[in-house]
Amino acid sequence: MPAVSEHVSGQVSGQVSGQVSGGERPLVEALGVHKSFERTEVLRGVDLVVPPGSVTCLVGPSGSGKTTLLRCLDHLERVDAGSIRVGEHLIGYAERGGRLHELSDRAVSRQRRSIGMVFQRFNLFPHLTVAQNICEAPVRVGGVARGAARERASALLERVGLAAREDAYPAQLSGGQQQRVAIDRALCHGPPGDAVRRADLGAGPGAGR
Ligand SMILES: Nc1ncnc2c1ncn2[C@@H]1O[C@H](COP(=O)(O)OP(=O)(O)O)[C@@H](O)[C@H]1O
Ligand SMILES: [Mg+2]
Repeated sequence: MPAVSEHVSGQVSGQVSGQVSGGERPLVEALGVHKSFERTEVLRGVDLVVPPGSVTCLVGPSGSGKTTLLRCLDHLERVDAGSIRVGEHLIGYAERGGRLHELSDRAVSRQRRSIGMVFQRFNLFPHLTVAQNICEAPVRVGGVARGAARERASALLERVGLAAREDAYPAQLSGGQQQRVAIDRALCHGPPGDAVRRADLGAGPGAGR
């Protein structure tokens, strides 16, 4: 059983850690992550270890910094101190000659391809159909052929009971259906078989519907 502990005192601090068995590299390893917005210190030295194949939940009061930590894992927020590794990548930086250099936007985008994110507000493109929403990133960013992306999208939609809604627009779907499309979009993004999939889901009124 992974040991999970989190100390919440207005802001997130402390450790959230799972045990990684001998020699196995953690899927995610964040060490001493600090992040402030202006004068608000949100993350105060957070350590997070996620073993491969595990499901990890970040639980804490609203405003305690869960989303901020997830955004740091993707370098959507720049950390003030600490380091984050996802698989082999040091997120956002390259180590050269013992110093850290921030990566170009292009290089960060490449790292993000192995990380899927489902946003709390699903952020589907309103002018694209369900299938187009799912295929957009694999085709434009991942270089996947449109036909192959479309096939993968269909298979994923089938799994979540939305096979018949491929050509619907987000506004024609319920909140829960939109959420499932957003999950499929995260799963379809990046090379097949990649391991890190993150969810930042609100258990809001739309959940499950
Ligand atoms: N871009 C930002 N600028 C200023 N403050 C922010 C920003 N993003 C988040 N915060 C603040 O950081 C704190 C943590 O927010 P967040 O990580 O969204 O919390 P949670 O996801 O745990 O509800 C909150 O006080 C929020 O107001
Ligand atoms: Mg949040």
